[in-house]
Parts: sequence; C-alpha cells; structure tokens
Amino acid sequence: MPQSLEQILEGRRSQPHQLIEVLQDLQREKGFVSKEDMSTVSRTLGVPVMEVYRVASFYRAFRLKPAGRIVLTMCMGTACHVRQAHLLLDQVMAETGIKADEVSTDGLLSFESVNCLGACAMGPIVKENEVYHHHMTPAKLRRLIRMIRLREYGGK
Ligand code: FES
Repeated sequence: MPQSLEQILEGRRSQPHQLIEVLQDLQREKGFVSKEDMSTVSRTLGVPVMEVYRVASFYRAFRLKPAGRIVLTMCMGTACHVRQAHLLLDQVMAETGIKADEVSTDGLLSFESVNCLGACAMGPIVKENEVYHHHMTPAKLRRLIRMIRLREYGGK
C-alpha cells in the first residue's frame, strides 16, 4: 500500500537535510510532487518553500505534475540524435496528440525527452516505463503506441 505524505514525513520534522529523501519518497509513492505537498514538506522540515520548489524542479527525477500510466522516455542525446531520434518526437506527438510532459486525455500516455538512457550503441532508444526499445524508427514507435493501446483497452 502506498505511503501517505504524513507517513513519509513521520520522524523527519524539523530535519531540512531530509529534503531530497522526502522528495524521492514522494515521487516513488505518488508519481509526482504537487504544490500542496511542497508546502507541507516546507512547513514540516523547516525549509523555505522556494527551496523545496528549486530542488524539486532542478532534478529530472522529480515530476511536478502527474504523468500518464505509460511514460515514453525519448532519448535525444547525441548518439540517438544522429540516428534521427528527432523524427521519433514528431511521431509520438502525431500519434498521441500531446506534447512533452502532457498527458493524453484518457490518462494513458505521456512522454518526456532525456539526454541519454545509457544504451547509446543501440539507439535511438525509447523507454516504455522501465522497458527499453532499441533501434527505434517512426514506424516501430507507431506500432509500439498502437500495441500499448491494444494491450490497455483490448478491442475497445
Ligand atoms: S544518447 Fe541515446 S542512449 Fe545515449
């Protein structure tokens, strides 16, 4: 069962050095760090709310709004870029009708771009939650998105 914010903050009152750990716990449990939670974290740890926001918005590990149930992480690093990864961004936007960090209206999909996923030799890489897809092309990405929808909704 996911931990509540109160459980995450338990035993950490007035401990500003716990900020990153608390944000990591929040990200893991809720999938993002909301403005309301930042205020509560600020009051509880005794860290100015601007500092909480600065840390949460600086690290890509933290999301500031909810993501889709399936997050496609698109690598735009140099090795993937020279293999036409930018075409994958066009493809994902065309297939989903959303832009980076937006969520599809059904809550299923969102996507984000990163600078390297650590598998440069097999790029372009697209990660579907924790699953890596390598040597991606626009056609493979289109099939992947259709397969995700089919898996999630069946024939509906
Ligand atoms: S640049 Fe894409 S995996 Fe490293």
